[in-house]
Amino acid sequence: MVSHANSDRNPAPEVPSASLLDGLRALTRVLMPVAAGGAIVRRPRMMLLSQKAGLDKRAVRTMQHLRDRYGPGPVQVRMPWRRFTFLLEPDQVHRVLNESPEPFSPSTREKRGALGHFQPEGVLISSPEERTVRRPFNEQVLQPQRRPHEHGQRMHEVVAEEMNALLDHARLSGTLDWPVFATAWHRMVRRVVLGDTARRDHAVTDDLLRLRKDANWSFLKPARTRRRQRFLERLADYVERAEPGSLAQMVARTPGPEGTAKHHQIPQWLFAFDAAAWATYRALALLATHDGHAGTAREEVEAAGAGADFPYLRACILESLRLWPTTPAILRDTTQATTWAGGMLPAGASIIVFAPYFHRDHARISRAHRFTPDLWLRARTDEDWPLVPFSGGPAMCPGRNVVLHTAGAALAQLVSAEEFTLVDPPLSPRRALPGGISPFHLRFRLSGP
Ligand code: HEM
Repeated sequence: MVSHANSDRNPAPEVPSASLLDGLRALTRVLMPVAAGGAIVRRPRMMLLSQKAGLDKRAVRTMQHLRDRYGPGPVQVRMPWRRFTFLLEPDQVHRVLNESPEPFSPSTREKRGALGHFQPEGVLISSPEERTVRRPFNEQVLQPQRRPHEHGQRMHEVVAEEMNALLDHARLSGTLDWPVFATAWHRMVRRVVLGDTARRDHAVTDDLLRLRKDANWSFLKPARTRRRQRFLERLADYVERAEPGSLAQMVARTPGPEGTAKHHQIPQWLFAFDAAAWATYRALALLATHDGHAGTAREEVEAAGAGADFPYLRACILESLRLWPTTPAILRDTTQATTWAGGMLPAGASIIVFAPYFHRDHARISRAHRFTPDLWLRARTDEDWPLVPFSGGPAMCPGRNVVLHTAGAALAQLVSAEEFTLVDPPLSPRRALPGGISPFHLRFRLSGP
């Protein structure tokens, strides 16, 4: 068991360190593919390469090797510039997520380097003091506990309009591919977050994309302060406009104590909606290839009223995120020394929860590599095996409810209007699902309802 107490009088030995070879393996097989795929903006070619080479499964195997060799861990990989610490057991994951932001701070060195390019005052990279006002503000606007969100009905209407426009477009060619889906998605996101007049404001998405590309290079690229300023001012304009039914309206009317930096919270929302696009599009691929599931989804949509929340479709999105987590590495920095079963971990260590290792461990989860939405149809607790697509604890994604509502509504609109056949690449319920799949290369044929 893990001891939570620290004692200076009885200094414990440090948690085990991996051998040089195992450390290099963890670096090159677990962490480097995440960075190469693009931590902030995905690189489609790298994603395809990784899918074809099976790099995601290899990363999970590398983690399993670390557990067999160094468990229960955690295990450190000590590099001259950084001390990476991999969690190997479920109780460690629950502990670290529940004990954030102190002693396990979500504002890690790597995140500050990357996110500083476009959201220097975002809650994720805030100090513990700033977090005390920014986190509640995010929760008041995004309403993680309220299902559906206060603007749920309006969100549903916007999603339905944009998905219908998407379907009209796709029907012209009889196919649906990523660029068409992404364009419709971005329109939908701008309307939900900023308001209807932002529908055609591609410039705001383009500015963010440019800044995010720099963010992939973290501290290695200097910040484009002028572009960032222009982008943030544009967001402030939308907040001032406060269009009815938008999140910008909620930002405008939600009080924020000094230090909240209200409109500075929005870049994370716009950015993170990309992950929801991948999850939704991949869920569509799962429904298209698994007999019976699309039928269950259609029945749910028919039975529910307009603006409803769709539990089964929400479970399909969560399952898409379990199989292919969009935040594969959840990071924390230790703000003080902590004690573990395997020894002490000093302050300043980087802790890594590698989600695919927990989500895809066939030794611990039956049907780990199969599409199993049922896994999500009951509430999960800390006693359960950690499935953490939205992280957990006090820094858990406050946007999860908005995500599942909008993504569920999008899937509902698509599957109830058309029969989708996945053209490329093949996925089969009879084979283990791939460790990773590039959403950018999924293509569907439409063949009527
Ligand atoms: C599929 C889509 C999404 C996934 C999988 C996801 C997942 C996550 C994860 C893993 C974190 C990191 C938490 C941590 O470090 O422990 C996070 C943070 C956050 N997410 Fe999401 N997210 C998604 C979409 C969104 C959306 C659309 C919004 C807003 C509308 C949002 C708002 C936030 C915020 C504000 C944080 C920072 C929370 C904090 O530091 O306290 N997310 N999300």
